Amino acid sequence: MAEQKATNITWHDSHVSRAERNELNGHKGAVLWFTGLSACGKSTVANTVDHMLHARGKHTYCLDGDNVRFGLNKNLGFSAEDRAENIRRIGEVAKLFCDAGMITLTAFISPYTTDRQAARELLEEGEFIEIHVNASLETCEARDPKGLYRKARAGEIKGFTGIDDPYEAPENPELVLDADNKDIDTLAQEVVDYLEANGYV
Ligand code: ADX
Repeated sequence: MAEQKATNITWHDSHVSRAERNELNGHKGAVLWFTGLSACGKSTVANTVDHMLHARGKHTYCLDGDNVRFGLNKNLGFSAEDRAENIRRIGEVAKLFCDAGMITLTAFISPYTTDRQAARELLEEGEFIEIHVNASLETCEARDPKGLYRKARAGEIKGFTGIDDPYEAPENPELVLDADNKDIDTLAQEVVDYLEANGYV
């Protein structure tokens, strides 16, 4: 938990209610939290779902690991402590987007169960949908689109997730996607089907 440093601050409730925002949007806000190894397909699936929902007139936004690390989280590295702070900030930003009524998609490795759990606890019941993009290390390493696994094996990157840093797979995610055997469009459709079946869209 981050320390509360500021004092003499007061919470102001919004004058526009959640219900009013939802009515204008035609749907509720939610957070689709994609987690998985580097190169498992999280960003690609999240961006495909983003596109599919947008095409159906839904208000969506995708927060993407590498991109967020160029801006908001540019001062963070990959130690367990920095990854926790990375995920804490993303969790808070996702909560704000969700509150604004967006269907928010996040694509971060988010390797630690406690960090993902903390992000879940910021939200109301049903608002946090954890999606494990489940590809084996073998698959991710064979793809290696950025050549990072090769560098990690060569010792040029230290503390790389799956090689010499842990990935704690979710025990009870809302959805598990079989990214070893199915293509991106099929996986994205499974996410949209879940959202439909559970009344999100
Ligand atoms: S997280 O662990 O804090 O959730 P995040 O998703 O933001 O990670 O960033 C992961 C991306 O950073 C990877 O896809 C990869 O491109 C890059 N990266 C660079 N160094 C590492 C590392 N040591 N471990 C994992 N990913 C790394």
